[in-house]
Amino acid sequence: MTEQLTDERETAIADAPARWWRDAVIYQIYPRSFADSDGDGIGDLPGIRSRLPYLRELGVDAVWLSPFYASPQADAGYDVADYRRVDPVFGTLDDAVGLIQDAHALGLRVIVDLVPNHSSAEHEWFRRALADGPGSPFRQRYHFRPGRGEHGELPPNDWESLFGGPAWTRTTDPDGTPGEWYLHLFAAEQPDFNWQHPAVADEFRTVLRFWLDRGVDGFRIDVAHGLVKAAGLPNIGDHAELHLLEVGVTPCFDQDGVHEIYRHWRRILEEYPDDRIGVAEAWAPTLERVANYVRPDELHQAFNFTYVATAWDPHEQRRVIDESLNAMRAVGAPATWVLSNHDIPRHTTRLMQPEGHGVAGRRPEPVDDAAGLRRARAASLLMLALPGSAYLYQGEELGLPEVIDLPAEARQDPAFFRATGQDGYRDGCRVPIPWSGDEAPYGFGPAGGPSWLPQPDNWAELGVAAQDGVLGSTLELYRDALALRRAHPALGAPDNLRWHETSGDVLAFGRLSDSAPEFRCTVNMSARPIRIARPCEPLLASGPMEYGPTGVILPPDTTLWWTAI
Ligand code: GLC
Repeated sequence: MTEQLTDERETAIADAPARWWRDAVIYQIYPRSFADSDGDGIGDLPGIRSRLPYLRELGVDAVWLSPFYASPQADAGYDVADYRRVDPVFGTLDDAVGLIQDAHALGLRVIVDLVPNHSSAEHEWFRRALADGPGSPFRQRYHFRPGRGEHGELPPNDWESLFGGPAWTRTTDPDGTPGEWYLHLFAAEQPDFNWQHPAVADEFRTVLRFWLDRGVDGFRIDVAHGLVKAAGLPNIGDHAELHLLEVGVTPCFDQDGVHEIYRHWRRILEEYPDDRIGVAEAWAPTLERVANYVRPDELHQAFNFTYVATAWDPHEQRRVIDESLNAMRAVGAPATWVLSNHDIPRHTTRLMQPEGHGVAGRRPEPVDDAAGLRRARAASLLMLALPGSAYLYQGEELGLPEVIDLPAEARQDPAFFRATGQDGYRDGCRVPIPWSGDEAPYGFGPAGGPSWLPQPDNWAELGVAAQDGVLGSTLELYRDALALRRAHPALGAPDNLRWHETSGDVLAFGRLSDSAPEFRCTVNMSARPIRIARPCEPLLASGPMEYGPTGVILPPDTTLWWTAI
């Protein structure tokens, strides 16, 4: 069986275009919320494996799996205790290898999450560091410091955790007295590694090889901008409270020293055949600084969080698209686009929020679901028409809204429990997705079984089964869009975007190719219907269009893909 799958994989991968990642559509799977095979209420690797044909049919090129490694789950697996083991809640190493092989047999690539900024407090090194006491070798692999103040009762500097509160926690010495402090930019259960220590760099090089040897096609690198801290861990001053999107170059983020790490990793990736890639989660202050992570000898892609944070406004959208394309072109990397992920409110809800409520840290306000879905579908078609690579987050192809009314007792996001945390409402986008059936868990797990976060009562109509084959459903819209994107010579990788001047709140651009008429994308961001002035052949629309006597009428918050005739 394994051998046969491997052969098929070779064929599928060999048939794929070279440099596959330059225009790949990459689907993020959040394992605990995707498919639960054993009925414990938490999704798992066998569940994902059984649903791979669905992803193949959807038409994506690759999947990115959020962490499934051994972890106490203090931050839903972003606190890794053993980078080479699969957490029993998700399955076994054999399940992971089987999943990779099955995916390859279907022509899907697999990207796994790598969490190098911090480990779990349960990682063997950190346990040794605590047990062995001050001055011991394992303490050097993390950031341990004596406290300030007369008795060391104050944290060593003014840094704040991204989840709220101080970024330092005081330890207790083996003899029971208060001891040194250790640094954690996230939860206290996530101590930051000291990347100046050679053992840390060595360890991650072998972790990369461990997963590459098991066939993964790349890594999404968590907090890629955080690994190196400024020497001496200086105070930040006024803005000691850290926010992901607002970070400038601070003593803890986007230090130039991180790039040396990625140069090493690029060389490791290139030792392997078939274009293995690295994707940076780097919240850098400008797109130019983000581009530093994808210089030709570093990583391949970086998430475009500036795009995520951009309002639904034609001028703002045009500006961010231009800036993204320009910044990535300068280093020869593809632009990337993303609207939703496991850390931010789903874009069905987010794009309707009042200014400033956009990305993180605030409980989203209720929106009109139908209006939110209409806008989200328009935004998705816009994104998929842009040059480069796009990231989808599980459930967006179903038009899922953010779940904003989770009761406090159901919430699990560690940031929710640290009062001033900027990320405290992330559970709302992590609710297990609906597949089939009329009641929870909607096929996520066995009928009548639990789900780790409660699903809304009205999700039956959003399930895969309810949308499959239904004309006009969001699922069919995504399937059509991905098929067209794959087939149309002007879409995907080519850097061929040309703006068309419009009046009013309309965004319009073309994509040129030698072998087809210009591909056009028009987005009506105004509150009124607009008319496409030229005779046109619609290819795909995000919502119902009207055919008036003078041409196609595009309602508000609707995107049309078309060609001129
Ligand atoms: C990244 C992850 C987020 C996690 C944090 C700490 O931002 O996307 O989910 O909480 O890193 O690992």
